[in-house]
Amino acid sequence: MSNPTLSEWLKRETRADHRRVDQHPALKPLLKRDLTLPEYATALSALYVPIASLEEALSIGLTALGAHYPLTQRAALLKADMDQLGQHASVPHCASLPKSMASIVGMLYVLEGSRLGGAMIARHVKRVMGDQVPLRFFTTHPLEEAQWADFWHFAEYHCPPPTWPAVLAGAQQAFTLFMQELEMIER
Ligand code: HEM
Repeated sequence: MSNPTLSEWLKRETRADHRRVDQHPALKPLLKRDLTLPEYATALSALYVPIASLEEALSIGLTALGAHYPLTQRAALLKADMDQLGQHASVPHCASLPKSMASIVGMLYVLEGSRLGGAMIARHVKRVMGDQVPLRFFTTHPLEEAQWADFWHFAEYHCPPPTWPAVLAGAQQAFTLFMQELEMIER
């Protein structure tokens, strides 16, 4: 890929990280035809701490750097789904605060990108388990194409090519937060 855009480059550089997350035994069942309610509840639990921690760290980081980005908060929706399933939510810790716009953009990429798979997951979960299953987290804020395009305008505006390695480091830090939590889940 000669002269890739930031979007193309970041997608390529983090493909293996995404694979590790979506193929993890705590999340993989989400797309199974025989997904069970306990498996669904476990997957939601695995996502709660990293989502809540990233939202908090990014919200503080964006304010500290005076950057304007419409951060979508989904942790409360996730918690409401977990409550409905009787699933305990661990107290989230704040992820380490991003110190530069590049690391904010990297972390935001992972948090916003995680909304892309949500619509597909929601359709599948509903097909398998019907209307009664709580789906606030996966359905309330699907990432619209225009919002994804706006994210990339924001990212490119703030992150010229010399900063890309720092963007990647921020994204990998965010993926690591998910992996750490996934590894702690008891199945
Ligand atoms: C079983 C769980 C998951 C599935 C099935 C899944 C599936 C997907 C799919 C289908 C896309 C592409 C959507 C599109 O291009 O329209 C996507 C994009 C993405 N997902 Fe996931 N995802 C899952 C979990 C996650 C998690 C937990 C994270 C965050 C750690 C995440 C981060 C991302 C990112 C950053 C992108 C954007 C990739 C790019 O185009 O650059 N995903 N996901």
